[in-house]
Amino acid sequence: MDWSHKLLFTAFLIVAAATHGTQGDAVVTGTVFCDQCKDGQISLFDYPLYGIKVAMACPGSDGQFTILGEETTNWLGNYAMRFQGIPDLSGCYAQVLTGGQGSMGCGMAAGAAQYPRLVFRMFNMEIYTVDPLLSQPEDPLPFCPRSGSPVPVPVTPETPPPARLPPTPQPPSMPPLPPMPPVPFLEASACPYNNWTMPEYKCYWKVVSPDMKVAVVFGLLAARKYGTDITLWTALGGRGDPYKTLLREGTTALLNSYNSLQFQYHPLDVIEHLNLALMGSTRQVVLTALRFIWANSGNGNVSCRFTPCK
Ligand SMILES: *[C@@H]1O[C@H](CO)[C@@H](O)[C@H](O)[C@H]1NC(C)=O
Ligand SMILES: *[C@@H]1O[C@H](CO)[C@@H](O)[C@H](O)[C@H]1NC(C)=O
Repeated sequence: MDWSHKLLFTAFLIVAAATHGTQGDAVVTGTVFCDQCKDGQISLFDYPLYGIKVAMACPGSDGQFTILGEETTNWLGNYAMRFQGIPDLSGCYAQVLTGGQGSMGCGMAAGAAQYPRLVFRMFNMEIYTVDPLLSQPEDPLPFCPRSGSPVPVPVTPETPPPARLPPTPQPPSMPPLPPMPPVPFLEASACPYNNWTMPEYKCYWKVVSPDMKVAVVFGLLAARKYGTDITLWTALGGRGDPYKTLLREGTTALLNSYNSLQFQYHPLDVIEHLNLALMGSTRQVVLTALRFIWANSGNGNVSCRFTPCK
């Protein structure tokens, strides 16, 4: 057995042991996001929310809804509710409970409730998932796009024009091939922060712009730490303490993640890692900053594939 089979087998034993002799269990899992622009959907600027209460409400025989269970989200915004004896969850829904402690100002209003969906049944165990739930601050963050104007979403990269190959019997008078456009999206590329501040590479800022606010991009926690005024451009010039370094490298990692599909982090990963670091100790801030620095430097084998903009 290779290690992955062993792992699977161990998981199988644990589930078997946990379910042996019981009536059976149902586990419901899901994630809560802070919808900080209050637009009712998960957008680029929303992040998983820690310490928020979620309730599962189910219809009783009299038609009244009763709360079957309650759980609080962990640092990654996840919750898992366990119910004994395989209850009937049809008609039940999961809902954010507002006013929770630890919701960092993002627990004032709740988004739509969601129904649990059965994904997996084994022995006497049922696993359900719930689509992401949203929790909202009292007011949209000051720098959110005004309602009506959609929140920018990552642009799909333009596909490069098909390469025009010269005909096989090559006439000497062939005009030179057009230069390849600077579309490095599918290409591995990682650039340190100083490359992103060079004017000749301005055109690589495609999804986020230099004057966008850190608070909008990274969320309420970042707003608390860095203020609501600081822009991504200013963030790239930060140095001298672990928190400024974290923000500079996190911003750089975000730019790199939008610029190359092969970058080590997805944009949402960058936002999540930065938020987790801000929730932790200074040591965690330093560690996360160092990981971003390493990724932005290309992990020792990826280079910065910028070519000057026209
Ligand atoms: C990025 O910046 C470094 C250090 O300033 C420089 O050596 C390198 O040539 C730059 N890369 C590109 C593609 O301009
Ligand atoms: C760079 O190295 C890492 C392992 O160190 C590897 O996983 C990754 O695929 C490499 N990337 C490229 C583009 O070679």
